[in-house]
Amino acid sequence: MGLFSRDIKSMDDLFVHTLRDIYYAENQIVKALPKMIDKASDPELKNGFDKHLKESEGHVRNLEEVFQLMKTEPRGVDCPAIDGIIEEAEEVAGEVDDKKMLDAALIAAAQAVEHYEITRYGTLITWAKELGRNDCGEIMKRNLADEKATDEKLTQMAESRINLAAEEARP
Ligand SMILES: [Fe+2]
Ligand SMILES: [Fe+2]
Repeated sequence: MGLFSRDIKSMDDLFVHTLRDIYYAENQIVKALPKMIDKASDPELKNGFDKHLKESEGHVRNLEEVFQLMKTEPRGVDCPAIDGIIEEAEEVAGEVDDKKMLDAALIAAAQAVEHYEITRYGTLITWAKELGRNDCGEIMKRNLADEKATDEKLTQMAESRINLAAEEARP
């Protein structure tokens, strides 16, 4: 669906388009998280990424349920935003020399991902409500709750420990 092909003619179409965007994003996140788990040194951060990988696999399944409710085939649509966030994370990670600093960089990258998901789910839940599709909204609220909890957990890890350890690594 190209930007100028004008295939989006109703709010239902826009809803499904955005659903495909987050479906693509969640699938890319499921692919990216194992690399982040590998790169993380802090055990709590590693476990946190691992836990969120399992949650993200659940998010994909939940979205498939929403597609089913919308009587639409589950498929993604290219999302240059999430591709860019993940690409930038990999680039920065590749340039950080110190392991503790790398943990701080991984948290920053992961929070950019969570915030992207939060903005998409926020919009989709609101649209679902307006379209009289609270059934879809309720499913996506579960995903949103996981993203918010993950974001908060990452902030807490960064502020309580990981940023301080990264600071100490300063030459
Ligand atoms: Fe997610
Ligand atoms: Fe997430």
